[in-house]
Amino acid sequence: MPHLPLERLIQQQGFGSRKECRALIRHGHVAVDGDVCENPFAEFETEGLHFQIDGEDWCWREHAYLALNKPAGYECSRNPIHHPSVLSLLPPPLLNRGVQPVGRLDEDTTGLLLLTDDGQFIHALTSPRREMPKVYEVTLRHAIDETQIQRLLAGVVLRDDPQAVAAAACEAVDSHRLRLTITGGRYHQVKRMVAAIGNRVEALHRAAIGDFALPAGLAPGQWQWITPEEVGRLTKSGG
Ligand code: URA
Repeated sequence: MPHLPLERLIQQQGFGSRKECRALIRHGHVAVDGDVCENPFAEFETEGLHFQIDGEDWCWREHAYLALNKPAGYECSRNPIHHPSVLSLLPPPLLNRGVQPVGRLDEDTTGLLLLTDDGQFIHALTSPRREMPKVYEVTLRHAIDETQIQRLLAGVVLRDDPQAVAAAACEAVDSHRLRLTITGGRYHQVKRMVAAIGNRVEALHRAAIGDFALPAGLAPGQWQWITPEEVGRLTKSGG
């Protein structure tokens, strides 16, 4: 198990430059398992380590994996144009670590957004070959009928690509709502598929990625850590 000097350890976790972390420690802002440690060179085993910065508890993590309940009115870009970035909903240490969204949701789409600083995880989940299922709750302008559902399941042609895209699953929740699963990640894919059947998306909410559902009780704008077991399941799921 790796042992690291405290200043290196908290630097790695996103609490500033080596110099800034050394100053935090020397000024008594850092505790390990509840005991203040003012020695930046004291070594600790990283695995499972709990440390506190100004009383706030953190657990050492090689990589950060989180689930956010994305509210409407936020862009997934690091350099947003019209709205704040989803990254503004996260604490600074996570941004310093380079956490970024796994794929994108439109500014007006709500629901499950995964974020991480693990490039391999992003690749594993977004690679088209993986065909990762993404489940959306779609609110429609016009009432849905069985023919439209069958068209989504059979495949519709979008304007920029002659190859038809089909829903992996689709069922009506009520007259104006669908539960729709897609495996692709094309630009505005759900909105354009729904437009192709002559309907229109009024609201779009992502409920799940693979078998990972948006955690119940996670309010819009809130995030939580994903457990290593959940990370493992997500990495293995898909086609
Ligand atoms: N499809 C869309 O049209 N928008 C999203 O945000 C996600 C999927």
